[in-house]
Amino acid sequence: MVRVGVAGYGVIGQRLADGVALQKDMELVGVADVAPTLAVRALKEKGMPYKFYNALPENGELLKNAGIPVSGTLMDLIQQCDIIMDATSAGVGAKNKELYQKYNKKAIFQGGEKNSVADVFFHGYANYEKGLGKQFLKLTSCNTTGLIRSVDCIDRKVGVEKVAITIIRRVADPGDYHRGLTNALQVDKAPSHQALDLMTIMPHVDATGILVHTPVTHGHIITVVAKTKKKISKDNVLEFFQEHPRIRV
Ligand SMILES: NC(=O)c1ccc[n+]([C@@H]2O[C@H](COP(=O)([O-])OP(=O)(O)OC[C@H]3O[C@@H](n4cnc5c(N)ncnc54)[C@H](O)[C@@H]3O)[C@@H](O)[C@H]2O)c1
Repeated sequence: MVRVGVAGYGVIGQRLADGVALQKDMELVGVADVAPTLAVRALKEKGMPYKFYNALPENGELLKNAGIPVSGTLMDLIQQCDIIMDATSAGVGAKNKELYQKYNKKAIFQGGEKNSVADVFFHGYANYEKGLGKQFLKLTSCNTTGLIRSVDCIDRKVGVEKVAITIIRRVADPGDYHRGLTNALQVDKAPSHQALDLMTIMPHVDATGILVHTPVTHGHIITVVAKTKKKISKDNVLEFFQEHPRIRV
């Protein structure tokens, strides 16, 4: 059993914790956060299916007043784990890395951290082998993870030479309205970070693309136009995707 802890129980941390709890070869030791956030209070309402650890000792009173059962500090959690999945707010992971180093633990960081936080900028399919045995991995962002999965799927079957990616993305998560544009479309400079990330993970593919931030909190549109090495039909692509265990058509 691999003992896993999740630091940062927000949008991504909740998904990671639920995912780890479902794995037969992993034990979710607990989750850590800094305050009685909505997600932490929801954990309490569900009867604490996951143990909670306090990452900010000075907020102890706040957590106590909210009635959140606390199993220890972030340091306690780290020491009981083989690996920490760090899903704290962008930039905090780099600071937490010092703790993971201190206790000689492995960690996986999310897309909001700089690539330099980790030994490998990692994708679970496209460069899986590069991550083996490494102490620190950083995952590609959610959009990039999905689109690289589809490009890698086609690449393994027939080879991909070039891709052009268009992303029209919701500007913030629900509840994060303060981060958003309210009445404008914002286009990032091309090539988008997703295209650059794809080329970092799959250096043999030539990629470009545009990213348009859109004032909604739900949903993205992502298109990938790919030039393959062999001529293929739409049915071929659908077949490739249907065979893939992590792509739903
Ligand atoms: N939301 C998305 O769609 C999305 C997609 C891909 C990647 N990411 C990345 O995932 C990471 C987390 O993003 P999110 O959207 O889940 O953010 P979030 O704000 O929903 O969650 C972050 C959580 O970390 C907690 N936190 C802050 N400092 C902490 C500390 N020192 N110790 C423990 N917990 C701490 C916050 O209280 C919060 O609950 C970021 O790197 C982000 O870029 C987010």
